[in-house]
Amino acid sequence: MADAHPSRRKFLQSSSVASAGLLIPTLALASPQKAPSDQTKSGEDISPAEDLMREHGVLNRVLLIYDEHLRRLTAKQTFDGSVLASAADIIRHFVEEYHEKLEEDFLFPRFRKAGKLVTLVDTLLAQHKAGRALTAQIRELASLATLKYVSDTDKLADALRAFLRMYRPHEAREDTVLFPAFRSIVSPHEYDALGEDFEKKEDERFGDEGFFKIVDQVATLEKKLGIYDLSQFIPK
Ligand SMILES: [Fe+2]
Ligand SMILES: [Fe+2]
Repeated sequence: MADAHPSRRKFLQSSSVASAGLLIPTLALASPQKAPSDQTKSGEDISPAEDLMREHGVLNRVLLIYDEHLRRLTAKQTFDGSVLASAADIIRHFVEEYHEKLEEDFLFPRFRKAGKLVTLVDTLLAQHKAGRALTAQIRELASLATLKYVSDTDKLADALRAFLRMYRPHEAREDTVLFPAFRSIVSPHEYDALGEDFEKKEDERFGDEGFFKIVDQVATLEKKLGIYDLSQFIPK
């Protein structure tokens, strides 16, 4: 049975940081990391869909961070640009260079080969490309130095808005249409084997317990913005 905190996720050990150089400032924001105590160390099997969907959970939490920055921009409130830059780095290194790469290398080609949901796959791929361009723009504009110019502030707000507008339907469609259909186009054996492939990729890229460290990084950014405490969102 799957544990509540499966340990397949592996992340950044110092030896593997090279491919994720820009993530270093993000890591610096987080408190010293330790693996959650209720995680097991090995032997967990996570299906490809569960794996991808919890990565969407990370994406969603970064979208909430983008929401908060958009709110502050619209209200003309100042903010610490380094928090937004760190959020954009998580999108770049965890979502775009890892999660989306899995979709592009392991899922999309199989849908094309099966002749299923090909139009959807084309659209999702085009959105990945558009997202990367927006992330580059958000990352660049997220420094306080550039935000003193009103035009840059407007550009940043537009880029955040465009990213949010695209990614919420993007991930919702993947969760409800693409991932559920994936089981039907591969054999049970291949489906399980892909879980293993995902694990290997993750180990190669991030090292030990990476998913949970990324979640911790996101939580650290949420705390800096004052949006971490869930109880604040209960209607009064
Ligand atoms: Fe995607
Ligand atoms: Fe996705």
